[in-house]
Amino acid sequence: MGDSGNKHIHQANRDSWNRATVAHNSHKRDQAGFLRGGGSTLFPEEVEVLGDVGGRRLVHLQCNSGQDTLSIARQGAVATGVDISDEAIEFASRLSVESGIRATFHRADVYDWFDTARARGDRFDIVFCSYGAICWLSDLDRWAAGVNAVLATGGRLVMVDFHPVSMMFNERFELTYPYLGEGKPQHWEDGVGDYVALSGPALTPSGFEAGVADFRNPKPAYEFQWHMGAILNALLRTGLRIELLREYPYSNGARLFDNMREEAGRRMFPPTGAPAVPLMFGLVAVRSATA
Ligand SMILES: C[S@@+](CC[C@H](N)C(=O)[O-])C[C@H]1O[C@@H](n2cnc3c(N)ncnc32)[C@H](O)[C@@H]1O
Repeated sequence: MGDSGNKHIHQANRDSWNRATVAHNSHKRDQAGFLRGGGSTLFPEEVEVLGDVGGRRLVHLQCNSGQDTLSIARQGAVATGVDISDEAIEFASRLSVESGIRATFHRADVYDWFDTARARGDRFDIVFCSYGAICWLSDLDRWAAGVNAVLATGGRLVMVDFHPVSMMFNERFELTYPYLGEGKPQHWEDGVGDYVALSGPALTPSGFEAGVADFRNPKPAYEFQWHMGAILNALLRTGLRIELLREYPYSNGARLFDNMREEAGRRMFPPTGAPAVPLMFGLVAVRSATA
């Protein structure tokens, strides 16, 4: 299904993310002070796969409120963040000013942004996205082609995201949804939830605040279940070379299911006794000279 037929779904997700983002940020204490004081919201997994970002032109797709974008910018990247949510981009732009860390933020549907960036001839050394990005994409081929088009020769797509296997379980860690979802939109009447409140300090490195209580999102949302083969094949079809694929048996920070076991480093594992399954993956894909 082409994304142009999904504009109304993207718009619905924009509305849902606008509401959820207010709740999420309400739980994060003094984020500007945290960043100003040298704090970073990055986990070691993305730091490792990103490698040296010093002086690199980096675009962070689906950057939400920009905390990770700014953490990367502080490591020396010339960073741009893109997100569809008005609330997220307003917050990110404010956070940049208040933290004193420079970055550029654009509010846009990622598919529209690809078209604009392409038309301008913008090129990046690194395209980055993480933690809950792929499940909002309605057209993987168009996304992969967009990534390829904005990468400079030798540039890299770097991702750390929740593994498609993690999307097969309901909140009680019961196998519920198909792995081979074929990108069919899944409708959530209760919209984007307040997973920051559920995860507590594990997702709030600047400190946890009670913030918005009992958040109910009045705006529904739509997610897309893509399996690993669909993601890799979309990247391969556009000519990118997969350089690295890692699978991790834990999720960073996010308490995806009830009764997850939290271990050192804010790593969340499935409940005791459950078999190990991949909950996150890391990926690097390179645009070679001939791509
Ligand atoms: C789970 S968040 C990603 C958070 C990110 N890892 C971070 O650094 O905070 C998913 C983001 O995707 C954005 N999003 C969803 N659909 C989008 C689209 N079509 N274009 C651009 N952004 C989109 C949402 O607004 C939301 O901020």
